[in-house]
Amino acid sequence: MSTVHVLDHPLIAHKLSILRSKDTPVKEFRELVGEIAGLMCYEATRSLPTREVEVQTPIGPAHCRELAGKKLAIVPILRAGLGMVDSMVSLIPSAKIGHIGLYRDPETHLPVEYYCKLPEDIGNREVFVVDPMLATGGSAIAAIDFLKKHGCRHIIMMNIIGAPEGVKAVTEAHPDVDLYLAALDDHLNENAYIVPGLGDAGDRIFGTK
Ligand code: PRP
Ligand code: URA
Repeated sequence: MSTVHVLDHPLIAHKLSILRSKDTPVKEFRELVGEIAGLMCYEATRSLPTREVEVQTPIGPAHCRELAGKKLAIVPILRAGLGMVDSMVSLIPSAKIGHIGLYRDPETHLPVEYYCKLPEDIGNREVFVVDPMLATGGSAIAAIDFLKKHGCRHIIMMNIIGAPEGVKAVTEAHPDVDLYLAALDDHLNENAYIVPGLGDAGDRIFGTK
């Protein structure tokens, strides 16, 4: 059964309050998406396995820990997921990056696939799927389905804001996938937008409206 982590941290909460505001301009919005993703990455990687290593400091030997286990990959759902990638890569520089392009049909709200490119060895990696918004869950489920078809068995989903409807749909479809959210909002409106949410994440990151 999936574990759903709703991150409760003063820095995330503060940044989220600015992110949600309709008055926050594109530049600041984009910066905040990256900053929140970095803070979320810190929590979402907490249980990665480590192994002991001995390092020589200028003074003498130090017993340290380094990352062990599977190599990592970050897979943003285009477009809005791109806003979360740079800050994650700055924390995990050796991660490979895949891209899954999906948009929601405005009438049906169902995801439509338009682009996919994954690292060749994606099936051997622990994968962090990133997208600021989890609304109906359709896009997340389609992305995870696609990754599983490519052999991925260790997948973590990171969304800045989730709706209960989306969380339910993803955890039912993929009970082996854990979710990390910065906030769990109230509900979806008649257009399947998250309430209160932050509006259209892609448009606000890229300034397209
Ligand atoms: C948004 C968002 C998610 C999706 C969430 O993308 O970034 O990918 O909607 O909705 P869902 O949970 O109901 O599938 P959108 O389709 O607007 O595309 P964009 O990133 O290109 O703007
Ligand atoms: N996609 C967004 O960008 N925002 C929502 O509220 C729902 C889907």
